[in-house]
Amino acid sequence: MRYKETKHTENCRVLCGSFVLLFFELCESSTVYLETLNLGGSLVTARKSITVICDFYSLIRLHFVPRLVSRADLIKQYGRWAVVSGATDGIGRAYAEELASRGLNIILISRNQEKLQMVAKDIADTYKVETDIIVADFSSGREIYDPIREALKDKDIGILVNNVGVFYPYPQYFTQVSEDKLWDIINVNIAAASLMAHIVLPGMVERKKGAVVTISSGSCCKPTPQLAAFSASKAYLDHFSRALQYEYASKGIFVQSLIPFCVATHMTAPGSFLHKCPWLVPSPKVYAHHAVSTLGISKRTTGYWSHSIQFLFAQYMPEWLWVWGANILNRSLRKEALSCKP
Ligand SMILES: NC(=O)c1ccc[n+]([C@@H]2O[C@H](COP(=O)([O-])OP(=O)(O)OC[C@H]3O[C@@H](n4cnc5c(N)ncnc54)[C@H](OP(=O)(O)O)[C@@H]3O)[C@@H](O)[C@H]2O)c1
Repeated sequence: MRYKETKHTENCRVLCGSFVLLFFELCESSTVYLETLNLGGSLVTARKSITVICDFYSLIRLHFVPRLVSRADLIKQYGRWAVVSGATDGIGRAYAEELASRGLNIILISRNQEKLQMVAKDIADTYKVETDIIVADFSSGREIYDPIREALKDKDIGILVNNVGVFYPYPQYFTQVSEDKLWDIINVNIAAASLMAHIVLPGMVERKKGAVVTISSGSCCKPTPQLAAFSASKAYLDHFSRALQYEYASKGIFVQSLIPFCVATHMTAPGSFLHKCPWLVPSPKVYAHHAVSTLGISKRTTGYWSHSIQFLFAQYMPEWLWVWGANILNRSLRKEALSCKP
């Protein structure tokens, strides 16, 4: 009996010893795992921090440094003529004026002849440059491009600004957008930039210089609910520009994807709360002044410093957060627009 007890106690001791040994081994190996995890986490955090620091550095280099040094000679760099689509209002007009202030001759394209003549005269008188107009409605589709090609035939186009674009009357769910509006988005936002680039690029390639600026939108960053077709059309423009840059940079052409967030134009519901924050929503004139100073420097930029901060946040935020914010903003813009309707 006594022998049995001793044997039992011994077995228990051995078993306990094994457990303790196993426990210490597990602790040791889990420390290795934890340390590996720690190291991995630190590396990821360090990489993210370096990326954020680099992004902020390029933001300062792009938006502030060029304004301290003398302005680039755009005529020498790209050529004497610039063509701007949607040039009688908003960003297009301001961009045309900014280019004219740097001595470029401007060809303005929009739908309304009287408005075109008035803006063209205004630019010619103010900046002492030559101007020309082309009346074209980009929503008409294919038929307008032969006359545009003909009108641009004898001009050495140095800069093309693909600015024209249409938006919804206010943010809407996809099935509530009219069929006409959907065709406008396809013809004006997508086809116009593609066809205009197709018209001017051969001449630029021949002269081995030129710039194509295509205005996309911050809504291209991620899928944007209640602006589905619009944001998708702007994502097309962004991809299109970036791909063109890869194709034509070696031929001396600079292709820029310009991605503004909100600018205070007719498109962003004048009188809405968006227009009450000028550093976040600049006037077209301020925006164009900044955007032109990035020409030749950045292939893909928002064109304005506070928009670049928004772009950084948009890039790093998870998609669910973007969608949540977009839903809230678009819902309130729709509510505001509908409450203002007579
Ligand atoms: N405003 C913003 O907050 C914002 C933000 C991101 C991106 N964007 C983009 O920036 C670009 C300019 O926007 P914006 O706010 O300056 O627009 P805007 O103030 O509404 O001006 C649009 C211009 O395009 C012309 N246009 C409109 N439809 C046309 C058509 N079918 N054919 C020919 N010309 C036409 C208009 O002239 P007529 O009416 O006389 O033809 C006008 O000159 C657009 O591509 C827009 O998507 C704007």
